Amino acid sequence: MDGQALEVAKKSAETAGVAHLISFERANAMKLPYEDASFDIVINEAMLTMQADQAKKKCVMEYLRVLKPEGLLLTHDVLLKEAKESVRQELSQAIHVNVGPLTQDGWEQVMIESGYRDVKVLTGEMTLMKLSGMIYDEGWLGTLKICVNACKKENRKQFLTMYKMFNKNKKNLGFIAMASHKSSNR
Ligand SMILES: C[S@@+](CC[C@H](N)C(=O)[O-])C[C@H]1O[C@@H](n2cnc3c(N)ncnc32)[C@H](O)[C@@H]1O
Repeated sequence: MDGQALEVAKKSAETAGVAHLISFERANAMKLPYEDASFDIVINEAMLTMQADQAKKKCVMEYLRVLKPEGLLLTHDVLLKEAKESVRQELSQAIHVNVGPLTQDGWEQVMIESGYRDVKVLTGEMTLMKLSGMIYDEGWLGTLKICVNACKKENRKQFLTMYKMFNKNKKNLGFIAMASHKSSNR
């Protein structure tokens, strides 16, 4: 996990007055420093897409280990509406990370093959580089900050590349949220 992101999360929790309820720890998702069956719920946000296929399974199997029986894994990731290698490559080039978004069947398969059952799925449009999506996610002030940053000389080219990529592929990209259960007898 990104150490800087951890600091931002701590500050946000302090600002929201909930820091006393939360403990923040930095760890590798594939080797978590927790006992078996420690948690009722594990949440993984926008990270599995960044992993190769075998690594995706390694992460979700590790989450299965630390979940209590009947526990719930909640994930949110990038959805490919059609399996197109060209879209995967363009997305990887735009964000400078080798990403592996999957189709709905592909994502469900990762969960089932890793030992989860009763996988519930919600899919929808990608709003990442859309003004309406930014306002929804970040608020007006956050959106304004993103726009100011995007206009800076050092960020302009990267922002434009990402904007063009998401716009070009918007029909084939979406989000997928899944709720996957650990069975009671594992
Ligand atoms: C696309 S970001 C999403 C982060 C966060 N959910 C958000 O929306 O801001 C993916 C994050 O996953 C982290 N990451 C990648 N592989 C990881 C691993 N094996 N263990 C823990 N974190 C990892 C990266 O450092 C990065 O911060």
